[in-house]
Parts: sequence; structure tokens; C-alpha cells
Amino acid sequence: MEPIFFGKGIEYRKEFANYVEILSERLTEKRFFHSLSVAKEAYRLAEKYGADTKKAFLAGLLHDICKDDEPNLQLQLLNEFGIILDTVEKSARKLWHARAGAVYLKEKLCLTDDEIISAVRYHTTARAGMSLLEKILYLADFTSEDRDYSGVEDMRRAVDVSLEHAMREALIFTVVDLSEKRMPIHTDTLDAYREVVRVSS
Ligand SMILES: [Fe+2]
Ligand SMILES: [Fe+2]
Repeated sequence: MEPIFFGKGIEYRKEFANYVEILSERLTEKRFFHSLSVAKEAYRLAEKYGADTKKAFLAGLLHDICKDDEPNLQLQLLNEFGIILDTVEKSARKLWHARAGAVYLKEKLCLTDDEIISAVRYHTTARAGMSLLEKILYLADFTSEDRDYSGVEDMRRAVDVSLEHAMREALIFTVVDLSEKRMPIHTDTLDAYREVVRVSS
């Protein structure tokens, strides 16, 4: 099953059929649906906020490409290409797939678009000074149609108000959620949080 694409999304879905094929082999059915849903949402947000819709679609499509790999495989890939994880990254497995995904796209799929690679790298932690494409992917991952966490409707409303407002809400949500779970928070996330809170206060 796939989300229903519209507008240029239909063309991009056809154009990137080779990537969709790779994803269908690498991901679980649920994650495959999620990836297509994020591609669709990233496309919608790019159109709304004046970003490159094609890049946004592709970033959404590929962002979780390594998420269903065994943790050891993800570490192996990072080692192979000399990526050193920091202390928080080492202790938080959920963060590995973003670093691994960025490396996989560049080194294994020979993707040359640094903007897309960077959006994939920061789609989990966020960071200060994010590009438009990075913000769009980060938020599309929160608001895609397959998401059903408590608070998703508020986030969907926020993303239609403005990107800045939605980034603020998403980062507050993340910091609160990780704190409540007594989980470590990456420096990049805290930098991003500080930035949006400072800007809006
Ligand atoms: Fe992810
Ligand atoms: Fe995701």
C-alpha cells in the first residue's frame, strides 16, 4: 500500500522508482509506507514554503533508508567511512540511522546532493542554523499522514502556521519527551532548541 500522490508528487514517484524499489527491499512494510508518506508531506511543505519540491520529496523518501538495518550493521558502515560517534550518539541507537543514512546515500548510492545528505543527517537531532530543506524534512517526519502519536494534530496545525512556529513546537516536544523518558539529549538538539526559543521570545 502507498499514500496517494498528487501534483508533481506523482511524477517524482515515477522518476524515483529505482529508489522506491531499493527502499521496498531494505525497509519493513510499515517503514516503507512511512518513507513514502514523509516524501509526500515534504513535497507539500516545500511547495507551501518555497523550497525545491523535488529535493524535498527525495529527502523524505530516503531519510530512513538505514533505520531497519541491524545496529551493528549501522555501526560497521559508520566505521567503514571513518565516522566517529560522540558520547550521546553512542548511547542513543535511534540517532545512528541518521548518520548511517547520510553515509549510505553518499557512499553506497553515490548521491551527490549535499543538501539532501545534510537533511538526512540532521533529521533526527535537528541543529542550529538549519537550511530550509533540513527544516522541511525534520517537520515532515513529525506530520506525515502515517503518524499517530499523541499531539500529532497540534503539530499538523503548527506546520501550516509557519515553519518557525512548527520548529519551535517540534523542538519543545522533543526536549520534553526525551526529558520525561530520562534519555540523553544531543547537543545539536539543544542548540536548535536554544535558537528557536531565543528567536521567538
Ligand atoms: Fe528517522
Ligand atoms: Fe522517519
